[in-house]
Amino acid sequence: MHWTKHLESGALALFLGAAALAAGGQGVPASSTLHQRSAIQSSERDWWKSAVIYEIYPRSFQDSNGDGVGDLNGITQRLDYLKELGIDAIWLSPVYPSPQVDFGYDISDYKNIDPQYGTMADFDRLVAEAGKRHIRVLMDMVMNHSSDKHQWFLQSRSSRTNPYRDWYVWSDGKGETTTDKGQPPNNWISYFGHSAWQWDETTRQYYYHKFYAQQPDLNWNNPKVHEAFKDIISFWLKRGVGGFRFDAVPTLFEDPNLTDEGVVKDKDGKPIINSFGDQELDDSKTTNQPGVHEVMQEMRAYADTFSAASFPGTRVLIGETYMPNITELAKMYGPAGKPEFQLPMDTQVGMINKLDVATFRTKLIEAETELNNNTPLLLFDNHDNPRIQARYGDGVHDTDIQRALSTVLFLSRGAVQMYYGDEIGMLTTTPSRKEDVKDPIGISGWPEEKGRDGERTPMQWDSSANAGFSTAKPWLPVPPSAALLNVADESRDPSSLLAWYRSLIRIKKTNPTMVCGVETMLDTNNTKVLSWMRKAQGAPPVVVSVNFTAESQTVNLNVPGANGKLKTLLKTPGASDPASLEKIELGPYGVYIGEVK
Ligand code: NOJ
Repeated sequence: MHWTKHLESGALALFLGAAALAAGGQGVPASSTLHQRSAIQSSERDWWKSAVIYEIYPRSFQDSNGDGVGDLNGITQRLDYLKELGIDAIWLSPVYPSPQVDFGYDISDYKNIDPQYGTMADFDRLVAEAGKRHIRVLMDMVMNHSSDKHQWFLQSRSSRTNPYRDWYVWSDGKGETTTDKGQPPNNWISYFGHSAWQWDETTRQYYYHKFYAQQPDLNWNNPKVHEAFKDIISFWLKRGVGGFRFDAVPTLFEDPNLTDEGVVKDKDGKPIINSFGDQELDDSKTTNQPGVHEVMQEMRAYADTFSAASFPGTRVLIGETYMPNITELAKMYGPAGKPEFQLPMDTQVGMINKLDVATFRTKLIEAETELNNNTPLLLFDNHDNPRIQARYGDGVHDTDIQRALSTVLFLSRGAVQMYYGDEIGMLTTTPSRKEDVKDPIGISGWPEEKGRDGERTPMQWDSSANAGFSTAKPWLPVPPSAALLNVADESRDPSSLLAWYRSLIRIKKTNPTMVCGVETMLDTNNTKVLSWMRKAQGAPPVVVSVNFTAESQTVNLNVPGANGKLKTLLKTPGASDPASLEKIELGPYGVYIGEVK
């Protein structure tokens, strides 16, 4: 097939690029041949196709100035750790000035750095130091809403005739009079609880907010909003950032007629009540409305005009795209000739939330065959979702289960998004008392919704009281598990999860087949073990088997055309080297990765 060839040649170019970079750091090795040089250029262009993107929640990664909150200089101090882990890029959740109502996702100035996190000089130094280690810095781009303290909104709410009035979504209420605010314009609710409409007394209208009331939605029907964001994108790209993760893209537009949304009912026909006590709505008028794709095509075309300023290679756009199915996800890459995201997040695989081999197999096949030759971006968790073990663990084999799932993550074809601390098996540690909660949705939704603090706890660098994160009391408590799960201890232990992550990333980045060879599922009737093969031109195929059960399993991977001999690349502790493809023995949640001879 045509696309198979395309991927295979890409794989080789990426591998050569990786090897050259390993030899010469940022630049081209002195002795490189013409062929290698073009491979490097192509690798720079395609770096994102097998990238490992590491999400940093800046408040929680490393505090450098002793205030209990992580900062940019802290991240810079830890770059050598990240380089050793083998990642390609860091995605910083927002570091712009913000009242921090939604911990940075309420931005009051898109072209600056919040003093809590440092200065613009600190940011430039981070980008430069990361660049020296061949790590790109990606920013979060929040276009659905700003903070209510942003100058645009302060202007907008000051009078109905202010030039910024039309930058946000304003509407009269229902039954409003000169003395009564009436009712909100319709039944739409905020993701963070209750009506999505906030009454504003000064100008006597309601404004719309899909998230907190302090996050008014911008009006994407206004061309000036488009221009403002292109200007912001240009500002950061010129500073050398490698791209952006676009926040909450499906909610950019709303139905202009402000039609009520449908109420979601259970099987007995009763309305479903969500954790905030609201009737659940079907989101049909406030998400994925016409216009979203055109905005992303416009932003992509704009980002593509920026060529290597201080860092060579493609600027990548990642989408926060929780889509209901693969067909909708495929659309986020854009139609032919009108690209949108290079990497819209694929939540189909990582958010199955059940160790069900058949579903994993189906979703991985879909990612390989139904994304129109595009690159999947797999992930298992982030700052909005409980960590891997909280969603997949059985309470007994949690680390082994994470070993198994991280194998699926890193050794499937595509790019990977991982979350800080995954590599040491950090746990979700949810607050047990309402008074300890920091995330406002955990306060308003308590006790049904406890918020997202549990997955945002400080990075666990060592077993000291504050886990090496800060000399002061951290903004969120360090979980007791830090005594065992931390970078210092796991770095000394060759059987640790950290050692496993390092090995997987090394294989993903340096094995010519694994860089981006095509993927085929094997042994497809097996309901206990997930096995697949990766293949690329001119390199041995690689097979991977992952046991999804707590019992030992034996698989027979009868690969046509191979003579059945295997060379082990990596296996879980305790497993023996299989004599042949016909008999691969796996312990509970065991993993085997081998080259076929
Ligand atoms: C998605 C972000 O990941 C989340 O943390 C935030 O609360 C919402 N978007 C609103 O910006």
